[in-house]
Amino acid sequence: MKITVFGIGYVGLVQAAVLASVGHDVMCVDIDENKIANLKKGIIPIYEPGLTPLVEETYQNGQLHFTTDAQRGVDHGTIQFIAVGTPPDEDGSADLKYVLAVAETIAQHMSNEKIIIDKSTVPVGTADKVSAKVKQVLNARNIELDFDVVSNPEFLKEGAAVSDCMKPDRIIIGTENERSRAMMHELYAPFNRNHDRMIFMDVRSAELTKYAANCMLATKISFMNEMSNLAELLGADIEAVRHGIGSDSRIGYQFIYPGCGYGGSCFPKDVQALIRTANGIDYQPALLEAVESVNYRQKQKLFTHLTNHFNGELAGKTIAVWGLSFKPQTDDMREASSIVLMQALWQAGANVQAYDPEAMEECQRIFGNRKDLALVGTKESALKSADALVVCTEWSQFRAPDFELIANSLSHKVIVDGRNLYDPQLLKERGFAYYAIGRGD
Ligand code: UGA
Repeated sequence: MKITVFGIGYVGLVQAAVLASVGHDVMCVDIDENKIANLKKGIIPIYEPGLTPLVEETYQNGQLHFTTDAQRGVDHGTIQFIAVGTPPDEDGSADLKYVLAVAETIAQHMSNEKIIIDKSTVPVGTADKVSAKVKQVLNARNIELDFDVVSNPEFLKEGAAVSDCMKPDRIIIGTENERSRAMMHELYAPFNRNHDRMIFMDVRSAELTKYAANCMLATKISFMNEMSNLAELLGADIEAVRHGIGSDSRIGYQFIYPGCGYGGSCFPKDVQALIRTANGIDYQPALLEAVESVNYRQKQKLFTHLTNHFNGELAGKTIAVWGLSFKPQTDDMREASSIVLMQALWQAGANVQAYDPEAMEECQRIFGNRKDLALVGTKESALKSADALVVCTEWSQFRAPDFELIANSLSHKVIVDGRNLYDPQLLKERGFAYYAIGRGD
């Protein structure tokens, strides 16, 4: 099938490459000339396991094309994906200007029937707005062409995007149009082979499904973080509690890991956007507000442990930070707990020596050169002459470190572990002051 994808960011590029890899003929369109030129040279703008070879292979065998030419893009596909960003605007609502700009572009250039698919995470009611925009432009052009707007939200996780996209748990399709249903069946047939993963529903329910899924997962995390704070105060160990409750299959083990707060480009933004949507219809989403405020508080925890340990005297101290990305297997630092920690440390006059396996360039891009930030090449060099170590991200190379080396490198034997990677008893025996999440002091 001939497919066009507008917006070659995270979701758009992964989706395009995966569709091309099963034999569809996919045109990628982006307004960023530099990005398109780089992609043609095999330079991929994001770190995502498996993505670079997939893009290279599909581009070289002619299944994947890149262009900045909107006309070419609209002419190419019967199916037109909108996969541009929906950043939060000032009040936290999803800003639809890029989505509607693509809708306008499609309508300006189309000369035959199209199926327009909203892949971006968009608030309930967006498909109606996209439809209205397309109609308005077609009217102004004085032509009548059939089109349908389908909601088909994406559920991929950063760091596992290619495999999530290749083997989706479910494919949500919001449309009540028979022809669109048939086209969606054909489009996704290669991913729907062993059992039926396609779930059809009306457009608004599909749009809400995306937010409901992310908000449910964020709720599980905030719930566990709340429990971890209680565990700390009550002298219980949250890791035992996690094990205890996860064994109930109604609760399950996934997404109940306590930590230093959820980050990334999705949970914080989507929880906030659904709160704004609710506010806009005079509903107070008390649970979602709590999810957000628990997460905000949780992100302060690493700093609180440090400042308590050093009695508020952090000025002039050097803190080693392991892990900058919001989770492992990505270089993405959006809404990462490491940022909240580093900013609090700088505010208190401390210096940071940080190491991350993938996010060093991203950190440099965000913070530039500053005297109180040293980005170092290995986890060991981050420890040199530092006063304490903080683990912000659970990269596997941080899981079994050489504790003797840590003890010898740090001037105080202090570890703050935002991901509960280590055994508190073992660290105690080795003479460390060890602060984790929900595991007592
Ligand atoms: C999330 C969802 O998991 C995807 O299903 C969804 O498609 C995606 O958002 C999106 O809307 O695009 P992602 O943001 O890539 O994916 O990352 P997750 O693996 O979900 O982790 C999010 C945050 O939650 C991370 O900061 C992680 O450390 C934290 N987390 C996760 C916990 O603190 N505890 C857990 O048990 C799980």
